[in-house]
This record gives sequence, structure tokens and C-alpha cells, in this order.
Amino acid sequence: MRTQVGIIGAGPAGLFLALLLTREGIDCIVLEARSRDYVEGRVRAGVLEQGTVDLMHELGVADRLMRESMIDRFLDIRFEGQLIHMDLPGLAGGREVHIYGQQEVVKDLIAARLAVGPLLFEAEAVALDGVDTAKPVIHFRHKGVQHALECDVIAGCDGFHGIARPAIPADALTIHDHIFPFGWLGILSESPPLADMTYANHDRGFALASRRSPRISRLYVQCTADEDPERWPDARIWEELHIRLDADHAELAEGRIFQKGVTPVRSFVAEPMRRGRLFLAGDAAHIVPPTGAKGLNLAAADVRVLARALTAFLRRGDDSLLERYSDTCLRRVWKTIRYSTYMTTLLHRFPDHSAFERRIQLAELDYIASSRAAQTVVAENYVGLPMEAA
Ligand code: FAD
Ligand code: DHB
Repeated sequence: MRTQVGIIGAGPAGLFLALLLTREGIDCIVLEARSRDYVEGRVRAGVLEQGTVDLMHELGVADRLMRESMIDRFLDIRFEGQLIHMDLPGLAGGREVHIYGQQEVVKDLIAARLAVGPLLFEAEAVALDGVDTAKPVIHFRHKGVQHALECDVIAGCDGFHGIARPAIPADALTIHDHIFPFGWLGILSESPPLADMTYANHDRGFALASRRSPRISRLYVQCTADEDPERWPDARIWEELHIRLDADHAELAEGRIFQKGVTPVRSFVAEPMRRGRLFLAGDAAHIVPPTGAKGLNLAAADVRVLARALTAFLRRGDDSLLERYSDTCLRRVWKTIRYSTYMTTLLHRFPDHSAFERRIQLAELDYIASSRAAQTVVAENYVGLPMEAA
């Protein structure tokens, strides 16, 4: 088998890339280890920056998004009985965010991809060969049979636990790994959400109230890093949410919890995001802490840069954008890590915080509450920074 770009992984990074390349007339094949049902059912993020929404429009896959997503006009932070109520478009030059579950994005992208080109499910990449040559090869297993896919370029869009990053020799990568001393327990509940996206800093820990539809809430509470969800019966989750969000039963209705999972809170960057003819994009190269909802958006931003660079290379033999791919992406990645780290530090209860550090955290929140400049900083990052020039 042969293709111009072999894409490993049908998450947001791999699927957006496939659609961008196909639009440019570049041939690609997407290999996905899991089944279509599994990938479409995986519950993850839900906040789409303006730039990600724009990308879906450009690719002609925004019809359902426009019908079903909800615009998040306000961003609220609650702490010590106070409320910071930020008007996102008002503070961020009219830019806004949409609430639309990542698995809905993935469903729309898979349908669009299957209409125009190959995407193999249950096709697990097991080894890469020749990434330092002009003809790299992906070895993969599909329906029990071993195959080899010869490519001009390989795109490693296979997430944090994939095989692309480990295929790069360890001494050729610099790894930055920062694990925060807590995790997030996330639930989906059949209950009407709070009126606005609400982050809370509380003595008992962070909480977040988001939504998926007018009848489905997406809620998170800070938990320990290696938390066992079994230790969180439904009654305990609701009790902590009411306390931390300072929301009574009238405001925060309780409903049937139908999904529960723990997410680590971690920053990870592998640089450069390239080795020879292998390019990493999305979680394969970096993880951002979830506070700020940037993971999916960063994956989309990476592949927008990669698609432009691959088009110049494969159409015209111009490799100048590919040479800059990693540097271009990393500028955005680090600014996003900076912001997500800031929001994480601002909003969580750190087990090792001294009374001094806790006071500084509360003073920072009090400052944001009183300063339009500080709110602008939060809002313009939340809606998403403009794309970098390549
Ligand atoms: P992924 O979505 O991970 O896609 C990679 C794909 O590659 C997967 O489908 C995988 O099955 C496939 N794959 C892996 N190995 C192979 C192989 N060898 N061969 C073929 N295919 C392979 N972000 C937020 O902003 N807010 C959140 O609340 C949030 N919650 C999250 C919860 C969890 C449990 C996780 C894991 C992530 C969460 N994220 C969140 C982050 C966000 O979902 C990711 O940043 C986003 O999915 C990145 O997209 P991606 O395409 O790079 O990677
Ligand atoms: C959601 C996830 C986030 O990480 C966040 O910061 C806000 C909202 C969500 O799943 O809706």
C-alpha cells in the first residue's frame, strides 16, 4: 500500500488533517486502532475556540455544530462568596466559544472523511520504519493481517499513548513533564446545567460546571491524582458540587449520572515535534492541563499549520514551512501551557500550599474581580489566541 501522507490516529488531530489535505488534493490514509463506535463514544472535552469553529466551517462540517452547539457568552469564576462574571466577546474583541462535545466533533469529521477517502478502523500501527528516509513506512495490523503502508510523510496523530513519539530516539527529544498533585473527576448528568460556564475555587478544592445540552450537565470536581472513581458515589459528588460551586439545589439540579471518569492534570511537551519525515501533532506531542479546555483546540491548531506546510512540500517541493512546523506550533503550545497552568494554579487547592500561597491565590482572584485588564487577559486566552504566522 502507498499514500502521500500516512496518518496514524482518528482523533481530532488526524481527522482534521485528513480533511485539510484532501481539500488540497493530497492523498492520505487514516489508520485508527479502535473501532468506530469506541472513538465516537469517547467522552472528553467540550469547548471549541472560535478558530476551531472557523476551521469546521472552512471544511464544510459545521452544519450540526451550528444547529446543536451552544454559545458560551459568559465565563464565571466563584470564590469565597464572590462572583467574577466575564463577558467573553465583550472582553475579547467579539470572539466567542461554542460548547459542543469532542465526540460530536469526531462523529462529524468521521462522516465527512469516509465520504471522501480511506479511514481504517481497528487498524493499529505497530512499528515505523525509515522515518529518516524519503520513504517512511507504517507497519499496521488490520483484521488480524499485517500490512505495510509506504508514505512520503507520516503524521503521528495517535495521542499521548501512541507509537509515533516513542519512535523518535529519546536523545533527539527534549521532554518537559509536569504532573500536578491532583486530578479531575468528570461526570455527565441528566440535569439542566448552570446558566453560565462556572469555575470555582473553594477551600475543599476546585469545581467546574459546564454542559453538553440544555438537559445534560458536564461537571467536574478536583480529586486526588490517582483517584478511584468508586470512592465517589453519586451522593458524594453532588454534595461536593453544591458546596464548592456555592449552588443550592434550586440552582444546581441533581440528575442521573450516566458517565464518570478521572482525568489527570498534567503538562507535557516533547520538542521538536518532528523527526525526519515523521511529524507529531496534538496529544502525541503535548498535553495541557484541562483548566482552560485547550487540548482539542491545540490539536486543531497544529494540523492547520501542518496541512499548509505539507501542501507546499508535496505540491511544489517547497520544504520551508515544514522546516518551521515545530517552531511555529511550539510558540502556540507554550503560550497555551502558560495559560492553562495559570488557570490551574489560580483555581485549584494545592495540598502543599502554605497559608501565604493560599492568600496570594485569593488576592489574585480579588484582583481579577476588580480589573478589566486582568479579565481581558483571561478572556482573550479563553476564546483562543490568533493563529501564529508561519
Ligand atoms: P486523541 O483524541 O487521543 O486521538 C488519538 C487517536 O489515535 C485515538 O483515536 C487513538 O485510538 C489512536 N491511536 C493511538 N495509538 C494508535 C496506533 N498505534 N495506531 C492507530 N491509532 C492509534 N481536553 C480538554 O480541553 N478538556 C477536557 O475536559 C478534556 N478531557 C479529557 C479527558 C481524557 C480522559 C483525555 C484522555 C483527554 C481529555 N482532554 C480534554 C484532552 C483532549 O481530549 C485531547 O487534547 C484531544 O483528544 C487531542 O486530540 P488528538 O487527536 O491529538 O488525540
Ligand atoms: C469542559 C472541559 C474543560 O476542560 C473546561 O476547562 C471547561 C469545560 C467541558 O468538558 O465542557
